[in-house]
Amino acid sequence: MNHLINWHSESSERWESCLRRAIWHKANRSNSDVATGSSIGLVFFNPSLRTRASMELAASELGANFSTLNMSGGLWGIAWDDKDMDSDAAEHIEEAIGVLSRYYSALGVRVFAAKEDYQEDTSDKRMNQIVQASSVPIVNLESAMFHPCQALADATTLIRNFDVGDGNLKLGNGRKFVLQWCYHPKALPMAVPNSTLLMAARLGFDVTLSHPPGFDLDDSITTVAEKTASDAGGSLTVSNEISSSANDAQIVYAKAWGGRRLYSEPIAEQDDRDSFKSWKVSREYMSQTNDAGFMHCLPVRRGVVVDAQVLKSDSSLHLEQAENRLHAQKAILESVWGL
Ligand code: CP
Repeated sequence: MNHLINWHSESSERWESCLRRAIWHKANRSNSDVATGSSIGLVFFNPSLRTRASMELAASELGANFSTLNMSGGLWGIAWDDKDMDSDAAEHIEEAIGVLSRYYSALGVRVFAAKEDYQEDTSDKRMNQIVQASSVPIVNLESAMFHPCQALADATTLIRNFDVGDGNLKLGNGRKFVLQWCYHPKALPMAVPNSTLLMAARLGFDVTLSHPPGFDLDDSITTVAEKTASDAGGSLTVSNEISSSANDAQIVYAKAWGGRRLYSEPIAEQDDRDSFKSWKVSREYMSQTNDAGFMHCLPVRRGVVVDAQVLKSDSSLHLEQAENRLHAQKAILESVWGL
């Protein structure tokens, strides 16, 4: 089935075709009836502003029907495991998805990391359960490990900023892309940094992954990213020093995520994280770069992750990234429905 769970499992042809189509939609915003008769159920186990609004609009502008289901309010509590359901959950995920996939011709699902078991989260267990239970294509609207809609939108943003009009989707050419870990009071999930790293590698940047010790991304991601970057003419460097990470950067992508100790020693992880409060993108940080563009997937905490002056500056691309979610998801829906 034509699922979209992550991009690194997909062919270069599908990635490039969706990216070119997203660029086309950005240049040619319009309403059409190309998806009339198709429908998508948007199933949110976690909050959203951008994904929800842009997915609803993407379906609508293609002429498809959609419904948004907020699983944390007004719907039955969901069980995920095989234990007898003698507590609060009224419905098993297999029935819930099995039913919804008989109504809609695709499902978009957001289900974040449960943050209980590292192996379960890094294997994207809940998203895999949903895929297994569905009889229609699933679009990942952010799982424990991946956010492919964000990645395609961000690639669209980078293409617009660096394209020289030759249609080449490998933008690297020795350009430095920094994925910069920043402090956040909560241990945020790894989906966006994982997908960002893989996306920048695929575009052929010289990628620097900058984070404090103990905040490594999973080895399964960095291994794929290293090979992907190398194949695309770029490279991957890991740095544990924020002081030098910004040097010569042409893109700074700020993101917060939780440390490895979150699963075994959550209080120690919080203490670790709190000791890195100075890790944020300030004007001084940006002044070390090679006139870099600033990126963030949003939502973002001003003054904590990034200074407001950076967001308000001409170098900031965060609103364009959010706009591009619409164009990218129109391309994804066309791909999922074979339009
Ligand atoms: N970037 C992103 O996915 O935003 P939302 O969480 O608001 O959907």
